[in-house]
Amino acid sequence: MHHFRYIGQNLNCESVDLAEVARLYGTPTYVYSAATMADNYNRLASSLKGLDFQICFANKANANLAVLRHFSNMGCAFEFASAGELQRVIAAGSDVKQSVFAGVGKTEAEIKVALENQIYSFHVESEPELARINHVAGKMGVKAPIAIRVNPDVDAHTHAKISTGKSEHKFGIPLKFAAAAYEAASKYPHLTLKGVQMHIGSQMTELGPIVEAVKKVAPFAAELKTKYGISHFSIGGGIGIVYKDALASGQASWWDSLPESQRPLTPETYGAAVVPLLQPLGLKIVLEPGRFLVGNAGVLLTRVEYLKHGNGKNFLIVDAGMNDLVRPAMYDAYHEVVALHKDTTRPSLVADIVGPVCESSDCFAKERSIQEVGEGEYLAIMSAGAYGKTMACRYNARPLAAEVLVKGSSFELVCVRETFEQMTSLERIPAFLK
Ligand code: LLP
Repeated sequence: MHHFRYIGQNLNCESVDLAEVARLYGTPTYVYSAATMADNYNRLASSLKGLDFQICFANKANANLAVLRHFSNMGCAFEFASAGELQRVIAAGSDVKQSVFAGVGKTEAEIKVALENQIYSFHVESEPELARINHVAGKMGVKAPIAIRVNPDVDAHTHAKISTGKSEHKFGIPLKFAAAAYEAASKYPHLTLKGVQMHIGSQMTELGPIVEAVKKVAPFAAELKTKYGISHFSIGGGIGIVYKDALASGQASWWDSLPESQRPLTPETYGAAVVPLLQPLGLKIVLEPGRFLVGNAGVLLTRVEYLKHGNGKNFLIVDAGMNDLVRPAMYDAYHEVVALHKDTTRPSLVADIVGPVCESSDCFAKERSIQEVGEGEYLAIMSAGAYGKTMACRYNARPLAAEVLVKGSSFELVCVRETFEQMTSLERIPAFLK
């Protein structure tokens, strides 16, 4: 469920007319709904009733400081995959004492920053990383809290590029070697064995792989509790969202109209499946959702520049590009695209919706049927709240997009559009070229 819907003919985010935002701040602009994020967070939290749990928002999905503050205000902690992501959490005004640090390549400097800020746990992905964390903690005269990420060898049934839980992936330590890794870890003087972690993939829309992975790792977590007194089990993130019928899925009626067998994964079904498996462990359960909390809470507003009629094909050329939202180019991801001004009297058009970047992969939608729109009209690319702005780049010297946060009828710029001066401000022409 989310808070994007037409009021009359105009697409609104909560009580804000999105065309007004586009006119005021220009495009491309990301717009996020605070109420949608809060609903997502509260729904997930309610579905975990009966567990001692901590939700750690994976801020790689959306790291805008205002978004992080919003989650922090709700009692959410964070998962970060770099010192930069950790520093974003702190810059947003939150501490990181309940937050966790993932990633296969933590540098010494990153480990030091995390220890200085007393994070909840490092999620360790290899034996050499154990040695490195022990070394850095020793130099600082502290003990580092660690959990080992185990790789349960479970197929997440998602896109290959966002699957992480099979043994061919670089992530974690294979479950069959994990006992030996804990044994080794227990001998390091500057490590405290605090927990165990897993994360098998992202945009998972089926319960099967999630349940299979929990069932595989839970007995091991119980063993670790007995042997080393660990206190938490992080089951990672990965809950998928609806991309295909994104707009309709904002309404309860859409969910009700689907037979249960065809309903996408919900936090309620997720909770109902995992809580009974986890409760007997008596461990604190950490969840690291990214996409589920923010994906359907954001749209990317873009302006139509041209309607071009090619050879048997139409191209709707918009001012957002793959540099702003790379998911379609990178993962062939589907994002629904809708007109901000709905006019049912107009015919529909079948077109490729493309950006201005000089690559054929700069395409948001292929052969998509959409209401006829012309130059200067606005579109919303739906479900762009996760892995949108955080994955943006400046290819073709395109400035990073603006971001706006909506709450009720209020809205504010939470990231200003980059200027050309800012884009080039770190570059220098060396003296030998002058
Ligand atoms: N925990 C760990 C250790 C992770 O690596 C990730 C995501 C998460 C949690 C959060 O997963 P989520 O709940 O968002 O599925 N850029 C891709 C997704 C990459 C996910 C990377 N890791 C996309 O746009 O689909």
